Amino acid sequence: MRVVETKAALRDALAAPRREGLTIGLVPTMGFLHAGHVSLLESAHAECDVVVMSLFVNPAQFGPGEDLDRYPRDRERDERMAADAGVDLIYAPPTEEVYPEGFATAVEVSGLTEVLCGDPGARGPEHFRGVTTVVAKLFNTVGPDVAYFGQKDAQQAVVIRRMAADLDFPVRIEVRPTVREDDGLALSSRNAYLEPADRERAPALHAALGAAADAAEVGAATADAIAAARRVLAEAGVEPEYLEARDAERLEPIETFNGRPVLLAIAAQVGGARLIDNVIIEPNAPGRTRGA
Ligand code: PAJ
Repeated sequence: MRVVETKAALRDALAAPRREGLTIGLVPTMGFLHAGHVSLLESAHAECDVVVMSLFVNPAQFGPGEDLDRYPRDRERDERMAADAGVDLIYAPPTEEVYPEGFATAVEVSGLTEVLCGDPGARGPEHFRGVTTVVAKLFNTVGPDVAYFGQKDAQQAVVIRRMAADLDFPVRIEVRPTVREDDGLALSSRNAYLEPADRERAPALHAALGAAADAAEVGAATADAIAAARRVLAEAGVEPEYLEARDAERLEPIETFNGRPVLLAIAAQVGGARLIDNVIIEPNAPGRTRGA
């Protein structure tokens, strides 16, 4: 496994494999790897000839009051885990390599980025502008055939799919299931912020989504499923920032389970960690879920 820090070194390293027609898989990450990241790396390793992992804590997707400075980092451990998962090349650029002085461009997907996490009362659309800008740059610098994302960040995956289609990036976007702890908590680098008592309450997000999925039936009101989820959260003393039912692709609000995939998405501050989770209710199969 090689580690490179510049675009020039990255392009050099990929020139020969590209000439030989090998397929290149990209897994973008902000590091502090866990089994969720590893599952994406292993998928890429199984399906592509060359696996590139980017490791970059992207300042552009953090708001002023957010956790950029305290975001957990462990470069040595990340490199070990990446090598074990079959990564060939880590691209770990310093901030100036991605955003040199004078950088003035943004990639923005409208419509999908102002709701849920992009609501001004949550992280705001600037968050997704930061994500799409850096992912567009990674697509250009790496030139992957396939790029892997986690269902854990459902809205991010929808927004990136839209961007790749709209801007004609010649890349296939693969979205893989959420990896969870045994008690249902979705793995996240931010789980490191949870104190023991908060760690005990955190699985309530997944439990709440399960209760909502159980209450879902074609023709039923999504409000009833959401009420079931709210009861589970209230018992655990968790106050959601949002808890919503939306069309899984268009992210429009859904009042009634209508046979199309419905995304039930939740965000909540639990102690020191802002947690998100989601489940997709499949059409005609209430209770049967994807990405759970
Ligand atoms: P990060 O939070 O490091 O996540 C990197 C990738 O791992 C994302 O595609 C995310 O959805 C996926 N992931 C995180 N937790 C997961 C879990 N429990 N199960 C499965 N996949 C999981 O998401 C980002 O970084 C950034 O926004 C990035 C796309 C790298 C752009 O900066």
